[in-house]
This record gives sequence, C-alpha cells and structure tokens, in this order.
Amino acid sequence: ALLAVLTQCKGGSSDTILVGEFASLTGKEATFGVSSHEGTLLAIEEINAAGGVLGKPIKLITEDDQSKAGEPANVVNKLISKDGVIAILGEVASSRSLEAAPIAQQSGIPMISPASTNPKVTEVGDYIFRVCFIDPFQGTVMANFATNTLKAKKVAVFTDVKSDYSKGLAQFFKEGIKKLGGEIVAELDFNGGDKDFKGQLTAIKSANPDAVFIPGYYTDVALIAIQAKQLGLTIPLLGGDGWESQTLVDIGKDAVEGHYFSTHYSTEAGSPKALAFIEAYKKRFNNKVPDAMAALGYDSAYFLVDGITRAGTTDGPALRDALAATKEFEAVTGKMAINEKRDAVKAAVILQVKDGKFKFLETVAP
Ligand code: PHE
Repeated sequence: ALLAVLTQCKGGSSDTILVGEFASLTGKEATFGVSSHEGTLLAIEEINAAGGVLGKPIKLITEDDQSKAGEPANVVNKLISKDGVIAILGEVASSRSLEAAPIAQQSGIPMISPASTNPKVTEVGDYIFRVCFIDPFQGTVMANFATNTLKAKKVAVFTDVKSDYSKGLAQFFKEGIKKLGGEIVAELDFNGGDKDFKGQLTAIKSANPDAVFIPGYYTDVALIAIQAKQLGLTIPLLGGDGWESQTLVDIGKDAVEGHYFSTHYSTEAGSPKALAFIEAYKKRFNNKVPDAMAALGYDSAYFLVDGITRAGTTDGPALRDALAATKEFEAVTGKMAINEKRDAVKAAVILQVKDGKFKFLETVAP
C-alpha cells in the first residue's frame, strides 16, 4: 500500500504538477542560468496565476549545476528519481544538455532545452526537444554576414575545444564561408577558462584575416577581445549566442565595442508578445532587461504547458507526442514550429555591441 501511495506521488501530489529545471545558477556561465531560470519562473508564476494546467498548479523544482561538468547528470537524476518530475527544462549550454539528455530519454521524461543549439542534443532521442534554432543555421547566418555585409574574404576561427557548442558552431561557420567562396586563413583552439590567449591571437594576426569568428561564451570572449585589442588586432570579431551577457560588456568594455554576434531575439525588434514579456520581466526582476536566455526560458515553460494542455495528461509518451506535434507556437522569441528532429525552426537576429549595449541590426529568417 505504501508503494502505491509513493507511486501516486510521482509527478506531484494529486493536486500539483512537478516540473524540474536545471541551470547554471552559479559558476562560470552564471548569467546563462540566472536568466533562463528567471524567465522560466516568471512563466510558471503567470501560468499558475491563470489557474495552472489541467486544473492544477505547477511546482517548479530548480537545481543548480554550477556550470560544472558532472553536475547536470547528478541533478537531473535527482529530479527524475527522487522528486518524480514529469518533465525537465534545461540547459542553456549544449555540453550540459548533452550530459543530462540520456537520463531523461531513458526515463521516458520529456526534456526541453531552452537554448542549447548544438544539433546533437535532440539526436539523443525522441523525448528531447528544444525551443531554439540550431547551429547549422546560426553558423550560416554569421558566414553570410561576414561575407556579404562585412565583405570579409579571409577569415580566422578561434574555437573552445572544451565546448560541444563551440566546436559545432565553428564547423558550421567554416562550411558556410567556404560555400560562399571565402577562405579560412587560420584555425586556433583554446580551452574555456583559459586566461592567456596571446599566443593564438598572435598567430591569427600574422595570418592577416579580415575578421575573426570566436564561437565562445562571454567570459572567455571578453578576455580574448581585450587581449586582441592589446595586440593591435583591429578587425571585426564575430560570434554567436554564447556572447550574450551583460558581463561581456562589463568585462570587455571598449575592447568589445563594434563587434557582432547572432542570437535569438532583441528587445528592439519584439512582437507585441515580446513587449508584454519584457514589461512583465522588468516588473518582476527589479527593472532588469531580459536577455535571450530569459526569453527562451520563458518560452520553454509555455511550450511545455501548451503540450500538456493538448495531451490532456502529463504521462511521458502522450506528452512527448503532443510536444512533437507542435505547429505554429507563438514564442516571445518569435513564431516557431517543431520539426521532425524536435528542433525549433525560427529566425535569428544579429546584434552589434554599441556604446556598451547590444544594438539590433537585422533579423534573418530560417
Ligand atoms: N547556444 C548555446 C549553447 O548551445 C547557449 C546559449 C544560448 C548561450 C543562448 C547564450 C544564449 O551552448
């Protein structure tokens, strides 16, 4: 009888629905986790204020993976086995989503990554979804921008070989440049967390490129930009969504000015839905302006609830089928559809660092 009661409690007592979230709330990429968590929390609070889903409130259980390898597996195991959550929201960084995804897949618990863009994440299995675009698209967007807008013919690429995201995005960008007739004149590596990039940057400088693509995360990119400037490298630096953090500007200051990156949304180019989200987020979080991770965290929670509503249940297989059947979901980060690989098909934006802010340049359709 006790076992029956325990089993019944999985996914929450009969009057709440338990949803798990794992995020880098502390450590090297803390702004990623704090932002995605705040966006997710705001969505859950709104949903509960409007009556919850299937007539029940959602309880969000959040775990910090400290931006550290090894922790995602620990905390997602705990969320599924101990707490009995019905779905997992997370992570931002691809390497950490890749670590947790096999656990969700084997448990038959749907996992929705808000922001991991490496293609391998959803290839783990049919329970793994994302509400963001993938890096073959993002890499092509920046290859086109480098070639057509910046008129760069010779390009260098500087890759974080510790990050699945960085390695994938570097590869897709290079393929795009070559397809457009450009030349990769230097390919250098670093390890996320390194402090001295002068050797590689000197090699890049002597290859005389027109631009450097750095598909890294903001803490590393800020240091790279500072050292590039010290070495007299004055050409445009380009990157992807991993650049997006206020900390990039706080650390990089004038060394990141004028450089470009692609990401998921801009507060300057929002739909009415995005504008309402920005207002609600600022009100909830001390006037803070939501970045892409916050918007995607918010989208991931609404995407889950939309699936639960259509499934009419929180049972894994039915919920998975409903999520996979998502067509025309109106997200804060733009209209999206889920394709047969459980990836979101949607637009990207290109931003430029200007006067310490991220200035919207253009939207690129999928
Ligand atoms: N796309 C990055 C990854 O896969 C994470 C990221 C998303 C970073 C959005 C910033 C903004 O690792």
